Amino acid sequence: MSTLRLGDTAPDFTQDSTAGPIQFHSWAGDSWVVLFSHPADFTPVCTTELGKTAALSGEFAKRGVKPIAVSVDPLDKHAQWVADINDTQNTTVNFPILADADRTVATLYDMIHPNSLANATVRSVFIIDPKKVIRTTFTYPASTGRNFDEILRVIDSLQLTDSHKVATPANWRDGDDVVIIPSLQDPAEIAQRFPKGFKAVRPYLRLTPQPNR
Ligand code: BEZ
Repeated sequence: MSTLRLGDTAPDFTQDSTAGPIQFHSWAGDSWVVLFSHPADFTPVCTTELGKTAALSGEFAKRGVKPIAVSVDPLDKHAQWVADINDTQNTTVNFPILADADRTVATLYDMIHPNSLANATVRSVFIIDPKKVIRTTFTYPASTGRNFDEILRVIDSLQLTDSHKVATPANWRDGDDVVIIPSLQDPAEIAQRFPKGFKAVRPYLRLTPQPNR
């Protein structure tokens, strides 16, 4: 296991899941993927996180993203827990939960941080693009549930900035103004790409309306 960095290829694996055995790259296909670990089944924060992911399934689908969860608990426990998540969170878990009892995935993705939490995965998130490249990672401790709106916000930024010569400023949300990347200096190209114009707060800080709106 070596540290995974942004731009690295997401390691492939085969593992059991609540949707049957999964060969990761083939399962991902041409979609974006959010691979996220949680410490254990039948724990309160994890229950709310998986419920929230299920509730946002339309938002993930709209962006061409498949969520997939992982913990080191076994498959039979996952199956019982899913019923509880659906009941308590008033939702339907419709994405796979990997049963990583042998720690194949946890080890490949360095999800066990023993000085923070012994013998279980912390709250890791890997946002992976359709070329299987790791584009974003976050790591949260067991005591802090993640903000799934933030995960969607980052995906919006990645998808926008992949297709336009822009970057997204602090606290940006889809629809807000964006910044023109500093390397773009040709006035003709700027005019063609950003017909709504731009405001140069400084020569290096140029704001423009979101170009795909
Ligand atoms: C939880 O998901 O609620 C949780 C899991 C491990 C440690 C603390 C909280």
